[in-house]
Amino acid sequence: MPRIYNFSAGPSVMPETVLEQARDEMLNWQGRGLSILEMPFTGDDFKSIMAEAEADLRDLLAIPDNYRVLFMHGGATAQLSLVPMNLLGGKKTAAYADLGYWSGRAIDEAKRYCDVTLAASGKSLAYTDIPPPDAWKTDLNDAAYCHITANETADGLEMNWQPETGNVPLVADMTSNFLTRPINVSEFGLIYAGAQKNIGPAGLCLVLIRDDLLGRATPLTPKVFQYGVQAENNSRYNTPLTYGIYLAGLVFRWLKDQGGMAAMERESRAKSGLLYELIDNSNGFYTCKIAPAARSRVNACFHLGDPALEPDFLDEARKNGLFHLSGHKRIGGLRASLYNAMPLESVEVLARFMDDFAQRRG
Ligand SMILES: Cc1ncc(COP(=O)(O)O)c(C=O)c1O
Repeated sequence: MPRIYNFSAGPSVMPETVLEQARDEMLNWQGRGLSILEMPFTGDDFKSIMAEAEADLRDLLAIPDNYRVLFMHGGATAQLSLVPMNLLGGKKTAAYADLGYWSGRAIDEAKRYCDVTLAASGKSLAYTDIPPPDAWKTDLNDAAYCHITANETADGLEMNWQPETGNVPLVADMTSNFLTRPINVSEFGLIYAGAQKNIGPAGLCLVLIRDDLLGRATPLTPKVFQYGVQAENNSRYNTPLTYGIYLAGLVFRWLKDQGGMAAMERESRAKSGLLYELIDNSNGFYTCKIAPAARSRVNACFHLGDPALEPDFLDEARKNGLFHLSGHKRIGGLRASLYNAMPLESVEVLARFMDDFAQRRG
């Protein structure tokens, strides 16, 4: 079977040249006579792979020197607990913006550790828009931090601005839009991103944390999950996800070769713009509930005007090589995930199929 057009929300399509390089190096990395999978993590070779990956990531995002990059285990879901365990620092409250499905998961988890005050909520908007800046709570002083989900993967909503949180550190779950545009890291206290969308294999999670937020973990936090301990040990307190870090490094290099964050932002706007324009011009055959300014560049969520056509849509799409277009199980509908490694040409194939399906079945 040829490679499919893979619109999965995660794990997701990887750059083909990265997979090819990994294949070529699988048995014998750079003539050393062993695979990365077999390489000790304490040796110079692996340390250099890790250092290069970090240096390239720092370059891509212009990460300031007072931020540490941690390569952690447990995916982004672990961070839903690790953020409160590591950042409450004796405070009893944390602020969360409730913007959709993944915000809800973060809030539920945080409530196991602290009181949650809502910095903003999209509930009254049925999670179809980001609450405007003047609807956000401004007095967050008692909160240890303020958490946002920068892109709601399941709902198809993306934040394009940062809330004003004063001295309260801003924490962002960027799992689905990390590395898809330039960001100003210094606006955040902490950013985390699970790897399986724009970075590499599932299980790896990147954490960028400002120095002054290290060392605040509650004593019961497992040491392997304490940001301070991992920072002191260059993310090698225990055996890191060596192969995942190697692949992430290849992806970072690929991103630099593609033109970095500015190019990724341009591409993601072109890809998502193509689909949203088609949806908006389909006379209701396709609909997108999300307010235009809040539509995600990386997870285009949409519905068919007649939901009864959905099984046929998915079936015909698969026959055309277009896979994994079902919406999130809790949201329903359809979703095309358009991460960095998804070529514009593949989105054009999807757009042609959608147009043709609408002509025939509309
Ligand atoms: C925004 C967001 N946060 C957290 C997660 C959880 O990631 P993981 O499955 O790596 O734990 C996901 C997964 O899709 C996500 O999209």
